[in-house]
Amino acid sequence: MSKAEFEGKVALITAAAAGIGYAIAREWTRKGGTAVISDLAADALEAAASAIRSDGGRVHACLANVRHRADIEHAFAETQRFAGGLDALFNVAGTNMPKNVEEMDDDEWHAIMETNLTSVYRACHLAIPEMRRRGGGAIVNIASIAGILAENRCGAYSASKAGVVMLTKNMAMDFGRDNIRVNAICPGSTRTPRVENYWKRSPTGRSELVDLCAIKRSAEPEEIAAPAVFLASSGASYITGAILVVDGGLTAGFRVPTFDRY
Ligand SMILES: NC(=O)c1ccc[n+]([C@@H]2O[C@H](COP(=O)([O-])OP(=O)(O)OC[C@H]3O[C@@H](n4cnc5c(N)ncnc54)[C@H](O)[C@@H]3O)[C@@H](O)[C@H]2O)c1
Repeated sequence: MSKAEFEGKVALITAAAAGIGYAIAREWTRKGGTAVISDLAADALEAAASAIRSDGGRVHACLANVRHRADIEHAFAETQRFAGGLDALFNVAGTNMPKNVEEMDDDEWHAIMETNLTSVYRACHLAIPEMRRRGGGAIVNIASIAGILAENRCGAYSASKAGVVMLTKNMAMDFGRDNIRVNAICPGSTRTPRVENYWKRSPTGRSELVDLCAIKRSAEPEEIAAPAVFLASSGASYITGAILVVDGGLTAGFRVPTFDRY
């Protein structure tokens, strides 16, 4: 992928003020693409846009909470106004709340489902006709390894991310003939503000998670962004319906202590 790879191409990225979304916006603009970044955190969003601009990137910031349909519609209208179309959509926004089903109430359940899964449906619902009009496009959904392997006390999160995985495959089937490719990334433990917050609350949390990985460290957000942006590139022109696990080997297998002692 050269800098010219995304020249003239437009991406909308949700939750792009920090973490994985911000890293995707940086990667996309560094390779010549135009980015519309959206997030619900106004100050952080403006700071992210300024940082990308001072790096020479073409970016437009748009305040949007993906839980609200009107905000998603606004982000699409802004993308149209600023850049005249859409070639790639990165659905990044997600939230979690470690609680099991017995501990959770309806509002908490719906908040996770709306943020993680319904927002993907709503954004794709708007993106697909626009991409078809352009002759094709790429959608990359940020799911999670929790969508393929259950995480304790994360019933709603796991269910929502499994939903993202299956919706990705369904949309790949339904829109391949329109030259719209739909893929997902399942990150493992990635050093973003949310995860750093967990580590602050539970000082042993970081080493516990790192210990589960084959590569004994967490990912940097850029290590998730690079494969996500690759999936939207011409190098991935025959990849659709793929669920790419980027987890440092966390889900590669399980350790059998007996074999270590043999
Ligand atoms: N960090 C990890 O270890 C990890 C692992 C697996 C999957 N993921 C997934 O990756 C995605 C990004 O995670 P992250 O850790 O970079 O995020 P994060 O929690 O660090 O936050 C990134 C940004 O999301 C924004 N955001 C939160 N809710 C939003 C909403 N409703 N509307 C718009 N913006 C919103 C925040 O303001 C913030 O700027 C999520 O879908 C998450 O589930 C992350």
